Amino acid sequence: MSQALITGPRVHLRKPRPDDEAAFCALVAKSRDFLSRFAPGMPQATDPDGRRWFARTIELNAAENNQKMLICRNEDGVLLGCMNLNEIVRGSFQNAFLGYWIGVDFARQGYTTEALRLVLEYAFETVGLHRVEANIQPGNEPSTALVRSVGFRHEGFSPRYLFIGTEWADHDRWALTIEDWEAMRQ
Ligand SMILES: CC(C)(COP(=O)(O)OP(=O)(O)OC[C@H]1O[C@@H](n2cnc3c(N)ncnc32)[C@H](O)[C@@H]1OP(=O)(O)O)[C@@H](O)C(=O)NCCC(=O)NCCS
Repeated sequence: MSQALITGPRVHLRKPRPDDEAAFCALVAKSRDFLSRFAPGMPQATDPDGRRWFARTIELNAAENNQKMLICRNEDGVLLGCMNLNEIVRGSFQNAFLGYWIGVDFARQGYTTEALRLVLEYAFETVGLHRVEANIQPGNEPSTALVRSVGFRHEGFSPRYLFIGTEWADHDRWALTIEDWEAMRQ
């Protein structure tokens, strides 16, 4: 658990390091079909092994407006997936756009729910954000169930919002503010 930013009962979040490349690419390769439909950062044919995706992750993390984190299992440190606070805007917005995915072998075991609760605590209590937004394609049932289960509010619908794979895809807009978060913790 060295270098954990925040730790829960089963998983912790930590910053990716250059020496995570092999584990990251192995996870992407194994999970390609599972991830490709809904994950915007998912490499297409131009990045078959995920190396460019990983390099971009490291590069973006160097800037203050992105906090890209690995979800790692506490018991053995195994990389399970990613949890990202993207495009952080300060000033009067104090907002981040959430992104996440989990490796196919680790899905449906509650790991992402735990990681999401951790990233919200980190976002509100350490990074000092006011709002976290998640944009989800209407057919993405696992992701919709995930944000709903931790208390995100459905704010609206954004037609042709993100370029996913080969087209501009419609998304539902979900969000949680620090006030929502604090109310849930009482
Ligand atoms: C979305 C995703 C991260 C969920 O991860 P996960 O580890 O399976 O999630 P959890 O096990 O913590 O479960 C979260 C909720 O999703 C539900 N869920 C998970 N997989 C599901 C499925 N295939 N169908 C319906 N519900 C599902 C769980 O039942 C749970 O809901 P509950 O708390 O109401 O029971 C994972 O499916 C994924 O990586 N998908 C591909 C990438 C992606 O879509 N990223 C998000 C883009 S917006």
